Amino acid sequence: MEIPMNSKSLWHENDKRHSFPILQDHISTDVTIIGAGTTGITSAYLLAKQGIKVTLIEAGKILDGTTGYTTAKVTSQHGPIYQDLLHDFGKNNAKLYYEANEEALTFIRKTVKEQNIECDLSSENALLYTTNEKNITKLIDEEKAYKTLGIDGGIVNLGSDLPFRVVKALMMRDQLQFNPVKFFAGLIPTILKNGGRIFEHTRASHVKDKNIPSVKTTAGHTIKSNYVLVSSHFPFNDQDGLYFSRLHVERSYCLAVKTRKNPPRDMYLSIDHPSRSLRYAKSETGESLLLVGGEGHKSGKNYGKTTEHYERLKQYTEENFGVEAIPFRWSAQDLKTLDNIPYIGPISSGKDNVLVATGYGKWGMSNGVAAAMILSDRLMGKKNRYSDLFDPRRSEKKKTNAATFLKENMDVGKEFIGGKLHRPNKDVDQLSIDEGAIVHYNGNKVGAYKDSKGELHLVETTCPHMGCDTSWNDAERSWDCPCHGSRFSYTGEILEGPAVKPLKQAKKDK
Ligand SMILES: Cc1cc2nc3c(=O)[nH]c(=O)nc-3n(C[C@H](O)[C@H](O)[C@H](O)COP(=O)(O)OP(=O)(O)OC[C@H]3O[C@@H](n4cnc5c(N)ncnc54)[C@H](O)[C@@H]3O)c2cc1C
Ligand code: FES
Repeated sequence: MEIPMNSKSLWHENDKRHSFPILQDHISTDVTIIGAGTTGITSAYLLAKQGIKVTLIEAGKILDGTTGYTTAKVTSQHGPIYQDLLHDFGKNNAKLYYEANEEALTFIRKTVKEQNIECDLSSENALLYTTNEKNITKLIDEEKAYKTLGIDGGIVNLGSDLPFRVVKALMMRDQLQFNPVKFFAGLIPTILKNGGRIFEHTRASHVKDKNIPSVKTTAGHTIKSNYVLVSSHFPFNDQDGLYFSRLHVERSYCLAVKTRKNPPRDMYLSIDHPSRSLRYAKSETGESLLLVGGEGHKSGKNYGKTTEHYERLKQYTEENFGVEAIPFRWSAQDLKTLDNIPYIGPISSGKDNVLVATGYGKWGMSNGVAAAMILSDRLMGKKNRYSDLFDPRRSEKKKTNAATFLKENMDVGKEFIGGKLHRPNKDVDQLSIDEGAIVHYNGNKVGAYKDSKGELHLVETTCPHMGCDTSWNDAERSWDCPCHGSRFSYTGEILEGPAVKPLKQAKKDK
């Protein structure tokens, strides 16, 4: 019952993803799409089907971003949010948020049938639950919001689906779950059939937004197009629209477990602290697995060992379901906006030909598909009734976001200074095998990792994005930045943006 040594998601179990070439030329296209996850692939699919020539570039391999490491519940139940949406945005907007996500579910159902995609899609109910009497009111208030908004669901008696005592549960009916890699990879043939081009290992570094915007890659190639769609998760060109100051990055953890008790049938999310997310899934050999997620924390704030988050999920699963085996474990991060509504639309005022979609608050399976629908309508000149609600330019103006804005940016300021003052408490020769830390090395402070063969990998830990200091993530063997979530391998390569440059190598003794 050991937790696997390395991170691998269930969705990459039997990897049949297509491979694509690296861009090696200057090219022109109608629309350049940057980032091949939920948003980028769905947008490319929708546009290509309507005769638009799309070019999709991906820094790594398609579906290796957060979409390949999600829990893949596809639902409009995004925690107990509707009472807050009603309060903060009013009934019309709260309803629009719900309906945009429901339309995404309808799109997924329809596309699976139309394109004959085998992706283990199934209809399940989504449930919020509490085991704590103190949280009952929250669910009752949420049920009232469901009634006001006409959402199909309400408080239910759980019966025996969960093997522990639940004091209240709120259901949203007829939601979905699937294998996200199979679903989004299933859209690729249609993109290619309609003349779309895809390039992997091709990282965008700049967007010049003149009349005809051009995207520059780190290898020095240029793509000219009428529109650019930034679907890179954290916008890599975040100076435009100040996204570095408007997004909060949170990392969380997942285990795929063969349990002694049967996994529950429906999809569950506890509103207690710590929160737990549950859904069943099938492995490629047909084995029933329980996905257990949780342990969210601000990305890069690794407070000791990140492996402890997996240990806590294992302990929770053992206590409640019994653990026979843990074939997969993985972690990933997602972004929250200042007001909890994603940013979907023009990247900033006066830049109508550079569009962005980000900030799904861990609910990107439906929000990301909704984003692709909104943005492709915009590019096709069609009116979309959801576009105003999600327009990213709203937060440039709104005073109500000021408190969250200040807190987020004060945290970044503290990290910046704290990182510079941090003194290593180890010398490099004190490192054990498979250990990473900030250490003293030849009188300097460097990031060091000693691999399984005893070889040392030394990097400078200053993040090339905006200069904060990265910290060691022992579970993923990576250097993670606490300011805006950039991540780097132990050899310094970029794992996740917004950074577009690697960590510098530290000088090693010969
Ligand atoms: C642990 C966890 C569990 C989750 N569970 C759920 C769930 O159950 N249901 C749900 O709805 N949502 C869930 N989410 C959220 C959801 O997975 C994400 O919101 C969604 O996958 C984001 O999709 P995306 O297309 O924006 O980003 P990604 O999938 O990350 O795609 C962005 C792509 O852009 C590429 N890229 C980045 N920079 C560049 C660049 N400069 N040039 C070229 N390419 C670049 C990246 O390599 C990446 O492949 C979860 C998130 C986490 C972290
Ligand atoms: S991600 Fe912004 S400073 Fe590191």
